[in-house]
Amino acid sequence: MNAQHPAVRKFGTAAIEEAAQEIARGGIVAVPTETVYGLAADASDSRAVARIYEAKGRPSFNPLIVHVPDLAAAERIARFDDAARALATRWWPGPLTLVLPLRPDAGVAALVTAGLETIALRVPAHRAMRALLAATGKPLAAPSANASNHISPTRAEHVAASLGARVPLIIDDGACPAGLESTIVMEGRILRPGPITAEQLGLALATNEGKVVAPGQLATHYAPGKPVRLDATSAAADEWLIGFGAVAGDDMLSASGDPVEAAARLFDALHRADASDRARIAVAPVPEAGIGAAINDRLRRAAHR
Ligand code: TXA
Ligand code: MG
Repeated sequence: MNAQHPAVRKFGTAAIEEAAQEIARGGIVAVPTETVYGLAADASDSRAVARIYEAKGRPSFNPLIVHVPDLAAAERIARFDDAARALATRWWPGPLTLVLPLRPDAGVAALVTAGLETIALRVPAHRAMRALLAATGKPLAAPSANASNHISPTRAEHVAASLGARVPLIIDDGACPAGLESTIVMEGRILRPGPITAEQLGLALATNEGKVVAPGQLATHYAPGKPVRLDATSAAADEWLIGFGAVAGDDMLSASGDPVEAAARLFDALHRADASDRARIAVAPVPEAGIGAAINDRLRRAAHR
């Protein structure tokens, strides 16, 4: 293996087979989901899970999401009440994570939940993550495949730039369609806004003085390396302006003002802004409605220093 770069394999049978062997050996693999690229390991293997934390440089108190192929597999790991089962039936496979009471006999490494009695579970829709779940036959713990406190990756190149040789293998299946991390729901409240909106779920955000509450939802979680100014309608000379709708700039989230398109492009745009020759980043206002709530949640974190 090259010491500087991870192996990047185009999605396909051979790539999934190689990835499954890496997982079976207790290794870690970066794999796309419909939200962002995840850094996956066998959730039942504590040493494999430790490698995730090590590669990300992540504080070990921040629990991980576990990915399973279907509701039946999820019910073997956590206890569902009727409300949780209704949400799962309606939205899985898809970008919804449910935080539920962990079954004591679930066989999940304690490091996955950071010792909590609850566990975050989701059934992903993306073909690559689904193929890896099928090939390994294991529940896969997978946080976003970026170094801790960096912008989440929506392309294989973002993973390679952030983690480098700390990840041995990346499955490349292009850009993630949703582009924002999954919506997290616990006890009928939204802990993290995401691609499935509060309106679609008919649920309210769990807030604490206007801030979303989830362990590990650190204010700086999505910080680029440069200062970020929000609600900008024009840019200073040293600013890289990310446009939206009528506000044009150096980059554009959605010229037609489509928030779903903007969500899919957001992290890619932040990565480009970070790599630009400008010292600061400015971002045009994005309306709060629908998935705009999740976009603005990530932007506020990016702007918080
Ligand atoms: O879309 C996604 O959810 C992506 C893809 C890869 O699936 N994953 C992802 O994982 O965003 P990560 O680790 O970057 O974010 C997990 C979030 C953290 O904010 C963590 O605190 C929260 O889920 N979480 C995990 N377990 C929890 C629990 N038992 N209770 C409350 N929050 C939990
Ligand atoms: Mg993350």
